[in-house]
Amino acid sequence: MSSTFYMPSLNVMGSGSVAEAINYIKEQGFKQGLVVSDEVLNKIGVVKNFTDLLDKAQISSIVFDKAQPNPTVGNVNDGLALLKQHDCDFVVSLGGGSPHDCAKGIALVASNGGKVADYEGVDQSRKPQLPLIAINTTAGTASEMTRFAIITDEKRHVKMAIVDKHTTPVLSVNDPSLMAGMPASLTAATGMDALTHAIEAYVSTAATPITDAVALKAIELIQENLLTAVDNGENIVAREQMAYAQFMAGMAFNNASLGYVHAMAHQLGGFYDLPHGVCNAVLLPHVQRYNARVCPKRLKDIARSMGVDVLSMSAEQGANAAISAIEKLAKQVGIPAGLEVLGVKVDDISLLADNALKDVCGLTNPKQASHEEICQIFLAAM
Ligand SMILES: [Fe+2]
Repeated sequence: MSSTFYMPSLNVMGSGSVAEAINYIKEQGFKQGLVVSDEVLNKIGVVKNFTDLLDKAQISSIVFDKAQPNPTVGNVNDGLALLKQHDCDFVVSLGGGSPHDCAKGIALVASNGGKVADYEGVDQSRKPQLPLIAINTTAGTASEMTRFAIITDEKRHVKMAIVDKHTTPVLSVNDPSLMAGMPASLTAATGMDALTHAIEAYVSTAATPITDAVALKAIELIQENLLTAVDNGENIVAREQMAYAQFMAGMAFNNASLGYVHAMAHQLGGFYDLPHGVCNAVLLPHVQRYNARVCPKRLKDIARSMGVDVLSMSAEQGANAAISAIEKLAKQVGIPAGLEVLGVKVDDISLLADNALKDVCGLTNPKQASHEEICQIFLAAM
């Protein structure tokens, strides 16, 4: 069976790498940029620091800072109107997953026309999006380097998964000095999101030797560095290691895709407007307990990457050890114990399961579930 490997052709890592983005924009001869970010990053001056660099390089830009934590169709439409009004020829996303996903929606519709909902699903667009330079400030969704964009349809209360090779940014930038200011709770949630990417990609039916290698290394780095990054956000070594880890987890899931953790978490995010990483972190051990019926050996590999001595363990014991290690790390970084405290209602579970089964991310889960089984996983996670 053939496999295709997607990622941006240029990826810059390390402190001070934002300067590389400016050089790149200059080299390409871009004239007018739309900078997509959020209100918090604008308020604390991160956006201005970047637009000052653009100004210095004599590149014009206009800021759209309305990407919400779960970016909506409305956000995409508003950003697109600003892009058209200012005749922008490139887009910069500056922030975490939300600005990146919102920018992808804007840039894709800018070049393909229609509405963002037209591109829900896999490879529905005809043309590459407007060039997108993605500068990351969290670790992370890895949206700065993936072909995935998750946009909330605020009318239907569902998250649309757009998986499209044309949404791949032309340049990704991971500068850990931009990540040092992330609060502990955001560090924990985004770090657990990255762990979920690596684990779902490793047990995916579309995994390849390439995605396996980067997934296991990502899991190892997250186990070694996430707690330090949460406890001491100024520790730039831990931040840099987490930047690499989330990037490798992104390389893994961008190509091996995901599983039911994401398919189910998207519904919680869309329905209750909950943080993506927290939803994943709560669901992750429960979905892997379900998956352990079919891929215990893969889960045992994950336990080993999380530092468990698995040598004398059977595959089943190893799988249990992986699930315990995931639960331990989630607890250490302060993830809530269950969905109930997040406000999820038992009465909504049937509808959430309906929508989860329609989410494209579930297609590569190692075991396909019935509606009843998805409901049971939700219930176990309450
Ligand atoms: Fe994710």
